[in-house]
Amino acid sequence: MRPEHPIVLITGASSGFGEAMARLLAAQGCHLALGARRLDRLEALATELTQAHGVKVFAGQVDTRDTASVNAFVAAAAGSLGGLHVLIANAGLASGTFKMWETPDEDLEAMMRTNVEGVVKTIRAGLPHLRKAGWGHIFFIGSTAGHQPYEGGSVYCASKFGVKAMAHSLRLEVNGEQIRVTSVDPGMAETEFSNVRLKSDDKAKAVYQGVQPLKAYDVAECVRWCLMLPDHVNIDEMLVKCTDQASVHKLHRRA
Ligand SMILES: NC(=O)c1ccc[n+]([C@@H]2O[C@H](COP(=O)([O-])OP(=O)(O)OC[C@H]3O[C@@H](n4cnc5c(N)ncnc54)[C@H](OP(=O)(O)O)[C@@H]3O)[C@@H](O)[C@H]2O)c1
Repeated sequence: MRPEHPIVLITGASSGFGEAMARLLAAQGCHLALGARRLDRLEALATELTQAHGVKVFAGQVDTRDTASVNAFVAAAAGSLGGLHVLIANAGLASGTFKMWETPDEDLEAMMRTNVEGVVKTIRAGLPHLRKAGWGHIFFIGSTAGHQPYEGGSVYCASKFGVKAMAHSLRLEVNGEQIRVTSVDPGMAETEFSNVRLKSDDKAKAVYQGVQPLKAYDVAECVRWCLMLPDHVNIDEMLVKCTDQASVHKLHRRA
């Protein structure tokens, strides 16, 4: 049975897509568990959303690369909110634009441990709560990088092809349960993603020069729409790009 006010856990809620999802889903009456490493941002967002929408919001620090940290965060969130219905494994990053043979261990490990291992750890900890509730929805946040590889993105693309594979496998594994599994796979979107990847605000600004990229709210809206569909409807995969981006390699830039 679909709950009237689903309890939604979002990793990577301190900026970008995760923050936008928190804002949009709070406005829909969802209770929220918000996780990321920057707790100060989460606490400010939690206060704001509780006051604006009267929903319950749990804010907890979590490093999704670390099993003990994820398990503690998920247990505290479920304990505080009285369970969990929706998991959004959104925390992730690209680190650098290295050719494969140039990739430093630090960047390699950051991407694989966050984008692949962190997603497994989040869902592994959260799934028992969805099963207990008897109703659930799990969101992966993939990427166009998980559909089409590009130069300088071998490890990031590998991690997002991994996300795509995990979403497919999990959908097979939970078949027969009332648990939907969706991967929302965005193209270029203006968040803190490029600032983190390029370690420079100026370089990040140049990425979006002359283009109208997706906004974080566009991606949050995709999640909201998939979630609000009737229980017998499962969107497996949603590939969403801005109109200026025809493919990973074809981008229309205005002068
Ligand atoms: N923007 C794009 O163009 C784009 C396109 C396709 C897919 N994506 C994917 O969308 C997801 C969200 O990215 P975004 O664009 O919203 O970027 P963003 O603004 O940089 O947000 C990334 C979020 O992930 C969190 N995070 C990173 N490492 C973490 C860790 N080890 N533990 C916990 N939280 C962690 C960050 O919080 P803290 O730093 O506070 O921990 C932040 O809240 C990522 O999976 C990304 O790969 C982005």
